[in-house]
Amino acid sequence: MATSSYLHIALKAAGAAAEIHKRYFNNDAKVRAKSSHFNLLTQADLEAEQAIARIIKNEFPDHNIIGEENQYERTSSPYSWIVDPLDGTNNFAHGLPIFSVSIALAKDNEPIIGIVFDPMRDELFKAVKNEGAYLNDKKIKVSGSALLKQSLLITGFYYDRSRAMKRTLDDIYHFFSEGIIGLRRLGSAALDLCYVASGRADGFWEFLLNPWDFAAGSLILREAGGKITDFKGRAIRLDPTSVLASNGHIHDQMLEVLHR
Ligand code: IPD
Ligand code: CA
Ligand code: CA
Repeated sequence: MATSSYLHIALKAAGAAAEIHKRYFNNDAKVRAKSSHFNLLTQADLEAEQAIARIIKNEFPDHNIIGEENQYERTSSPYSWIVDPLDGTNNFAHGLPIFSVSIALAKDNEPIIGIVFDPMRDELFKAVKNEGAYLNDKKIKVSGSALLKQSLLITGFYYDRSRAMKRTLDDIYHFFSEGIIGLRRLGSAALDLCYVASGRADGFWEFLLNPWDFAAGSLILREAGGKITDFKGRAIRLDPTSVLASNGHIHDQMLEVLHR
């Protein structure tokens, strides 16, 4: 089947999820806690994932789905859809309009399609492997900043408040000691990666992310000319991992700081 048919379904699924988000945003999103009181879940997370899974299963019943909120029966297909129905739930639950829907299709564990949709700004980031990355049909590329001193960085805090938190706070101090322009914590890792891809930021790191947080964004970033590795500089796989993403030019400088 042509990649365009897969992309068409990915876009349809993201559109359906976005409608659900718009309906619930600021309007009784029925918030409850997941593993801890600061890891939230809303009705929008659940309904959006159901809508996405329904659309995918309807078209490609033999494909795998790896979603954040539900377990799906594994199939022998080489194709897997990796879905974060709402990336940025804590923002969403507080009425802060920074969140996204992230959908990737991987073949043999390698993303071949990635889309990240921000329904509040109507910004659709998308990439097909070897075909470049786009924001609303306009080609995007990473920034040209070659020095950490010229860089605006983004980070994220995993839900762990012990070792990962301490490590991230130390890293922040070390990056500021290098004279970075600034640091942001936006709350949607999928969007963070797209912002590096489109040159809005120069680098991003987070101690531990799940495949649904980065599968789509990693392809978009690479297709925009950026680089993504773990904190040891190794290629990332679709497993939970630390993530360092950059415009490529400052990657080694960021790795060096993360090793302190
Ligand atoms: C979270 C967001 C956040 C990141 C967390 C993720 P969720 O995803 O991407 O920016 O810092 O590590 O878990 O829970 O809103 O889907
Ligand atoms: Ca997420
Ligand atoms: Ca989520």
